[in-house]
This record gives sequence, structure tokens and C-alpha cells, in this order.
Amino acid sequence: MKYPTINYIGNKEKIVDWIASLIPHDANSFFDAFSGGCSVSYKAKTLGLQVFSNDILNINFQIAKAFIENNETLLSKDDVDQLFSGEPIEGFMFNNYSNRFYYPDECKELDIIRKNIDSFLNPYKKSLAFALLRRAMIRKMPYSRFTINWDKIVELRNEDLSYSKYGRRRSYHNKTFRFHFEDNLNEYNNAIFDNQKNNKALNLDIFDAINITNADVIYLDPPYSGTMNDYYGFYGLLDSYIKGEQVKPFDKNFMDKKNIKYLFYELFSRLSKYRYWMLSYNSRSTPSKDEMLELLNHFSNDIAVHEMPYAYRVTGKEKKKNDIEYLFLIDTHL
Ligand SMILES: C[S@@+](CC[C@H](N)C(=O)[O-])C[C@H]1O[C@@H](n2cnc3c(N)ncnc32)[C@H](O)[C@@H]1O
Repeated sequence: MKYPTINYIGNKEKIVDWIASLIPHDANSFFDAFSGGCSVSYKAKTLGLQVFSNDILNINFQIAKAFIENNETLLSKDDVDQLFSGEPIEGFMFNNYSNRFYYPDECKELDIIRKNIDSFLNPYKKSLAFALLRRAMIRKMPYSRFTINWDKIVELRNEDLSYSKYGRRRSYHNKTFRFHFEDNLNEYNNAIFDNQKNNKALNLDIFDAINITNADVIYLDPPYSGTMNDYYGFYGLLDSYIKGEQVKPFDKNFMDKKNIKYLFYELFSRLSKYRYWMLSYNSRSTPSKDEMLELLNHFSNDIAVHEMPYAYRVTGKEKKKNDIEYLFLIDTHL
């Protein structure tokens, strides 16, 4: 099975095999508590584990519902026709985001598509439609995130200007939503499979999700404090689109360096029912690796730290930088 092209900032796609190789062999269930684009959940599903995927952003919940919880529902060509039928309308996107993230005609198109998604009765079709539309929306968005101002968007979507200034036309930004949707349709449909387990997607703050979930392993891949980690900024627009109202930023976002140690302490102190904890972290983050170890030592004296060199690139312009990715494996010997 092949994980589809999601393109999620901070995803673990490139090192997912390494992470998976560290999952304890006696584990049957896996709780990906900050699931994002679901690269780790998907891998765990292919390994036959029962997977629970949670993320505070609704768009990530839709991705998890489409690929982790869903075992068989696909989108057909007729479904796509239904989705792209009808005249564009002046709705939530047109009224709030014209000339902010997309041109007015594109916003009107998004408004009719949003309405049409609600005509699907099958919840998995809806989630798959949201996942594909997300892909289309970020393909049309320079830098694939919603933290770019309109002037810059206009500049980068001007193909001649983009070519003369940056040597790239980026013509994919000006293809239609339908083009991108259909371009990814087969790949997304082909990624859906049944691992014979009752997998579940959740859309909660982690502090609530841990109360209602149980699994042999809890995997934590939080936003890395001190790095590019504004997930509400990157993708909150997609949640507003789904809900038809402007969603608010979330409080416990793991961004604030000042209270980050306290937040981790609070989180770890509530994980006593999970035997294994796996925590992803990296060498640029706050607190440091040693501080993190010190914190974890309050909860277990069986902690292994695995390391992996990792090259990353923040934007197309920047050169790759080297980094070390850590995986803390904590056994609480329950
Ligand atoms: C580093 S990303 C996870 C990436 C993921 N492992 C992947 O491979 O795509 C961190 C995720 O934590 C989520 N998040 C941030 N604060 C959260 C909270 N309080 N509760 C649940 N999820 C949260 C963000 O929305 C983001 O998707």
C-alpha cells in the first residue's frame, strides 16, 4: 500500500520506516495523538496494528477518516461529477476570502463544491472529498500554506513574473480545483485498504483525546517548539472552509517556548495508562534533548533515545539544513 501525496508540513514520511522499526513488537494498538497528515498512522495501519489517529485540526481528522478509519469507500467518476456540478455561488469563501487567498471566482467555486460535499450521504466519501479538495487548494496556494499575504500570492501566481524573478512558472497554481482533484483521485482511491482492524479517527485536543482512547503505544509528534510550527496558520483556513465559519486558534498548540516544559509535564503526567510512549523530537527544538530526558525521567527509568540525521528544507529558496531527529522510546512497564 502506498501512502498518498498529502504534503503536510512537518510530516514524518521520509523517516516513517525508521519510526516503525522502533514500535515494540508486543504492541497491537497504536495511538497517533498528533496525527497531522497521517504518515505514521498510515504506516501503522499497513503493519496491521489497530490505529487511533487524533488531531485538533478538522482537516487532519478528515484525512484520518479517509485513509485510516475508512477501509473500502472510494470516490467514483460520478461522485466527482456531482461534486463539481452547479453554478458557482457567493457563500462563505466568497464573502470572507476573496482576494485574500483565492480570486473571487475561485472562492465562488469553492462555495458550490462545499455545498455539494454535503450531498454525499456516506461520511467516508465526504472525508475523501475534503482530503482531495485540500490537496487541490494547497496546490493552488504558493508555498502550500495559508500564511502568505495576498500581494505575494498574486505575484507568485503571475506565471511570467514568477518565471522572470524566480525561474519557475508555477503554472500548477493556476490550474482548476477540478484539475488537481482529478489528478490525485486514483492515487487517493488506491491508498484505501482494509487492515482488518477497527481503526478510528478523532478530532480533539490531545488532553481530551487521551481520556477516551486506550492503546499499547501512544505516539507523540507535537509541533516542535522553536521551529516553523504554526499549524493553525498553515491550515486553519481549511477548517474554516469545512465549518463555514472562521475557526479560532487553539490554546495548547505547543508553540510557546515559555510554557512548553510545563505543557509537556502536564501531558506526560496524564499518560500513565499507556505502556509505551514514543516521542518524536529534534535537535532544533525547545526544550533541548537533555531537558526532555530530565522531564521524562519523572515518569520512567526505562528510556531509550534513538537518533537519525535528517535534512530538511523550509521553503524552496532555502538550502537544506542538517538536523537530528530523535525518537524517545519510553517503557512505563505497566
Ligand atoms: C508535527 S505535526 C504531526 C505530523 C504527522 N506526524 C505527520 O506525519 O504528518 C503536529 C500536529 O499536532 C497538531 N496539534 C497541535 N496542537 C495540538 C493539540 N493540542 N491537540 C491535538 N493536536 C494538536 C497540529 O495540528 C499538527 O497537525
